Amino acid sequence: MKKKVVSLLTVAALSMSMLAGCGNKAADTAKDAAETAESAVEEGAEAVADAVEETGTEVANAVSGDLADKKVGVCIYQFSDNFMTLFRNELQNYLVAQGFNADNITIVDGANDQATQTNQIQNFITSGVDVLIINPVNSSSAATITDLVVGANIPLVYINREPDADEEQRWEDNGWNVCYVGCDARQSGTYQGEIIVDLGLDTVDLNKDGKIQYIMIEGDPENVDAQYRTEFSVKALEDAGLEVECLDDEVGNWDQATAQQLVANALSAHPETEVVFCNNDAMALGALQSIQAANRTVGTDIYLVGVDALSEALEDVIAGTMTGTVFNDHFSQSHSAADAAINFLNGQTNDRYIGCDYVKVTADNAQEILDSVK
Ligand code: BGC
Repeated sequence: MKKKVVSLLTVAALSMSMLAGCGNKAADTAKDAAETAESAVEEGAEAVADAVEETGTEVANAVSGDLADKKVGVCIYQFSDNFMTLFRNELQNYLVAQGFNADNITIVDGANDQATQTNQIQNFITSGVDVLIINPVNSSSAATITDLVVGANIPLVYINREPDADEEQRWEDNGWNVCYVGCDARQSGTYQGEIIVDLGLDTVDLNKDGKIQYIMIEGDPENVDAQYRTEFSVKALEDAGLEVECLDDEVGNWDQATAQQLVANALSAHPETEVVFCNNDAMALGALQSIQAANRTVGTDIYLVGVDALSEALEDVIAGTMTGTVFNDHFSQSHSAADAAINFLNGQTNDRYIGCDYVKVTADNAQEILDSVK
């Protein structure tokens, strides 16, 4: 596996003016979701305050000694997510390999509901876990989650869904034991676009009108990964001097079945579609089902790219039924998250942003990546 790359990144506010074609639906709807989530978390904050008062000191003192005695709480936004399943399984294995006792690692399913996850965080706090690793349901709820966890003197490692720049700054300004582990989704979007650019306009421009007609299937609106992948995949085409036309842009919420339906509709409304961009592989697999049902052939009369490098998608890239994907390195991210948790438990600090590189995947290297993930 690749070595992790640790870097500090400046997370800039999204530039809406850079968005092309149909616009970025994820960014539009994120605000509403954030407001709903905020009130759910606030309720939780009140409920937990009393418990924190009672247990805070005990928890603060329980940070030295053997890892086998340490309790780790892990909150995953949703167990049914394919990518987060790979992530959490690897995290569990790696934590055990580092010396934690499997019985002391508790991983819970937030069922894509912030109120549920907030309850789980409260329960972890009252049960006296030594460290928390949290994949938030709503990254906009991070400030309140951080307040809960820091208030209980428990170190916190966020994963996969990055809190905003102000929130990360707060960790640093206050010297809190809080950090984030993830990849820069702008890189994955750029790689998706480059996979199409590398095919050349002549190949991709099937109707020879000088433009690339595409449809975009976005992930969860709250997730910066969805926002950046949507923006930067198209930007890569434009930066290469290609003219683009967005035929449809829909929110598939990272979900295969949802994407299958959306792409079926989009292809029947827009048979001139040349490229289907999906923010992740689960949705690309759904898109492929609809592409095949519409009697279209990837690599011949349509092109399809995803992100994650799920094994099934890698098999498709090898077979030519997907044009490409981008490896989202769950090994590196889960190991970095566990390492960061261990640093905190050992009284050490972490960079507030711990990054990881994506890898562009085409038929040229798909087998190699498949061999490395198996
Ligand atoms: C992955 C998606 C996943 C999402 C969950 C993204 O980084 O690419 O497959 O659904 O994280 O937050």
